[in-house]
Amino acid sequence: MAIIRFGVSIERELLRELDNYTAENQFANRSQAIRHLINNNIITNKWNCNNIVAGSITLVYEHNKRDLITRLTGLQHDYHDVILSTQHFHLDKNKCMEIIAVKGKADRLTRLADNLIALKGIQHGKLTMSRAD
Ligand code: NI
Repeated sequence: MAIIRFGVSIERELLRELDNYTAENQFANRSQAIRHLINNNIITNKWNCNNIVAGSITLVYEHNKRDLITRLTGLQHDYHDVILSTQHFHLDKNKCMEIIAVKGKADRLTRLADNLIALKGIQHGKLTMSRAD
């Protein structure tokens, strides 16, 4: 397979994290570490598109952001068929964490997570999945 070089702009702090990750996992260089991360995060998800998986979506956000709660709730109703439960934690005066337990086809869960994480006001979002069939 042809190897293509491309430039990446990245924050200094994130690059430091990448270098730590590269060293800790004994990759030969950054390129190898990035290939591994891409493979794990994009390609593996695509391969598993039709598999039934179970997992969780973790979201961190500030609840006073305009419209965010309405949109969060609306999206969860749209995907009620794959949502098992939602747990809400008030982390401090403004910050909330929500953990949504999900089960269904990997591609539908990925779409739900992508839509949730893309909402304006979400500070952090992460989907984890494991095979459940
Ligand atoms: Ni809260």
